[in-house]
Amino acid sequence: MSAGLSINVQNLVNPRQNSFVPRVFTVTEKTRETLDIVTIKAHSGDGGVRLEVHPGQFNMLYVHGIGEIPVSISAVGSDGSLIHTVRRVGPVSNALGSLRIGESFGVRGPYGTHWPLESLHGRSVIVLAGGLGLAPLRPAIHHLLKFRDELGDVGIYCGARSPADRIFASEFARWQKAKPRATGAKSIEVRVTVDRVPDHAKAAWQGEIGVVTSLLPRALPDPDNVTALICGPEVMMRHAVQDLLQLGIAKEHIYLSLERNMKCAVGLCGHCQLSRYFVCRDGPVFSLDRVERLLTVKEL
Ligand SMILES: Cc1cc2nc3c(=O)[nH]c(=O)nc-3n(C[C@H](O)[C@H](O)[C@H](O)COP(=O)(O)OP(=O)(O)OC[C@H]3O[C@@H](n4cnc5c(N)ncnc54)[C@H](O)[C@@H]3O)c2cc1C
Ligand code: FES
Repeated sequence: MSAGLSINVQNLVNPRQNSFVPRVFTVTEKTRETLDIVTIKAHSGDGGVRLEVHPGQFNMLYVHGIGEIPVSISAVGSDGSLIHTVRRVGPVSNALGSLRIGESFGVRGPYGTHWPLESLHGRSVIVLAGGLGLAPLRPAIHHLLKFRDELGDVGIYCGARSPADRIFASEFARWQKAKPRATGAKSIEVRVTVDRVPDHAKAAWQGEIGVVTSLLPRALPDPDNVTALICGPEVMMRHAVQDLLQLGIAKEHIYLSLERNMKCAVGLCGHCQLSRYFVCRDGPVFSLDRVERLLTVKEL
């Protein structure tokens, strides 16, 4: 079960070489996910780059004259395009969100560690996503659905603040319909919850209401055989970790993606330092046994 998502092009580029030189990518498609979140699909402008992307990794995205920020790779298109999902919070993310089709930006990467998809063969998997945390988990979900015959049960649990804050909402039904193909293959459960539903949306909302951790099963028949992948706001990840430990999942089988401010993204500048780790190089995906103590520190 190879976890790499290859982009089909001619030259193999080692991202560790020329680490600081962005490649030019051109926006080919934009999808508005919510009021402040946009998904941007882009193609390589230099026509000859082959990137090996692993689900959970991120790129540094550069907008000319504005700046550069880390953004998770939220999918890789079948045509080799790179897909990022950006919340507009400040200068660079706003500039990225404002790019029009045909306009270009710079890409360095991919960087960082990835979800441990190669070690999931035969295991059950819980995916727990809060808000934009679904972005780095989406390529992992695509991978799990593709290789579902080789897995145990898969539970995908997503939370958002309100129905209007859900991202990739149009994909949920497709994920749910991805029934196991092989006889005896296990179930796939996709559940979505929101913190609240505004009055004007109540009639239309068919889903659940409550925090995302309320979607977790009350007990697991074989917790030793379960791996959990989590991404979301820090407070959500702290609660999720407690609940998953109570369900009996071992710390080394709970993986979470952390965020820190970044500059170089290659382990040189120290901006992303978190105790003895550099999140850009040693993360962003960590197993809980490595970062459990750090999780107890508020706003890491
Ligand atoms: C590994 C990694 C992956 C990321 N993936 C994504 C992604 O897929 N999509 C996405 O939209 N963003 C992602 N981010 C966060 C993104 O990098 C920041 O939102 C961005 O740096 C903001 O830059 P800015 O210039 O737009 O705003 P700034 O002026 O730098 O920040 C504006 C506001 O956002 C806050 N902020 C900045 N960075 C973060 C952060 N990392 N987490 C929470 N709040 C922050 C600031 O404190 C400030 O209040 C990721 C960050 C990391 C480290
Ligand atoms: S961003 Fe420079 S060391 Fe991580």
